[in-house]
Amino acid sequence: MSTLGEPRDVMILDEVPDPQPGAGQLLVRVRGAAANFADALMCRGLYQVKPLLPFTPGLELCGEIVALGPGITGFAVGDRVIGSSALPAGGFAEFALMGTSTTFPAPAAFDDAEAAAFYIGYQTGWLGLHRRAHLQPGETLLVHAAAGGVGSAAVQLGKAAGARVIGVVGGPAKFEVATRLGADVVVDGHTEDFVEVVKDLTDGRGADVVYDPVGGDVYQRSTKCIAFEGRILVVGFAGGQIQSAALNHALVKNYSILGLHFFLYATKNPALVRACHDELTKLAANGMVKPLVSERLALGAVAEGLQRVADGTTVGRVVFIS
Ligand SMILES: NC(=O)c1ccc[n+]([C@@H]2O[C@H](COP(=O)([O-])OP(=O)(O)OC[C@H]3O[C@@H](n4cnc5c(N)ncnc54)[C@H](OP(=O)(O)O)[C@@H]3O)[C@@H](O)[C@H]2O)c1
Repeated sequence: MSTLGEPRDVMILDEVPDPQPGAGQLLVRVRGAAANFADALMCRGLYQVKPLLPFTPGLELCGEIVALGPGITGFAVGDRVIGSSALPAGGFAEFALMGTSTTFPAPAAFDDAEAAAFYIGYQTGWLGLHRRAHLQPGETLLVHAAAGGVGSAAVQLGKAAGARVIGVVGGPAKFEVATRLGADVVVDGHTEDFVEVVKDLTDGRGADVVYDPVGGDVYQRSTKCIAFEGRILVVGFAGGQIQSAALNHALVKNYSILGLHFFLYATKNPALVRACHDELTKLAANGMVKPLVSERLALGAVAEGLQRVADGTTVGRVVFIS
């Protein structure tokens, strides 16, 4: 894409030269690339990372290594890997670049589309729930946008951690999806007040952990049903409003507000990220987690697919598959 705007307007299918791997980079033949809300924000120029134009979008992918940058060890041509792309050579293409610090072995349990969607949502969920919020078995976890990309992963990871999971979704179709994902209770936020449901289910105590990729009013309402010593994970602002926190409220109710930027761990704590991937791979092998791939698209259909993600109408992950 060479201009910014809505995905359907600015993403064009074009022939470009094959990218060349530099130091610390791998060239992969793309097997699958999952569409993230962040890709849509990047198309609009609203994401924190703003690549120079033109660039090929697609932050998350599964690929087969076809060439290694100079001096790389620990990876081999032919390896099937997952992780993030090295922009400007993103995953919505035949070939992409990946950085070695954010590339991991693809779990054997998954096909290419599932593997492509097993990085961002699951590392974000695992690091958020375990590293940041210290979710404990038996605690109540409230997940917003529970049928979405990161939300569906958080529901599965919350159940795998032994929590009681309450999912909030927008509309009946998403209600069905979140129920099938394993949420103990699902709230349709279009017709029900999640604050009342959480209070009822916890005898007034509230949720121990809130996983919030939506923000705005959803965050503000969540502070009305957070438990004593609860933890609110600020994951994203898909609703379009960046909320402010009332710190006097956090003080009087004794709760924590935790920022989460999963990608920082790759540089700040690479050993933890490797351990996280190993844990996730075990959960995958045991059948405890599995990405929900709702659509498998050819390259020419990706712009419309990413537009649906941007519009908030998709469930799980929409994946480009080669
Ligand atoms: N902090 C991190 O490290 C990190 C990592 C990954 C993603 N994120 C963030 O997490 C958020 C979700 O990402 P995702 O890729 O998983 O997206 P997604 O959940 O697949 O889609 C976003 C969901 O948010 C809800 N939503 C509410 N208001 C919306 C609006 N005005 N427009 C669009 N959606 C709206 C919708 O679910 P309902 O209809 O059910 O409400 C929608 O399905 C994004 O803000 C992303 O940037 C953060």
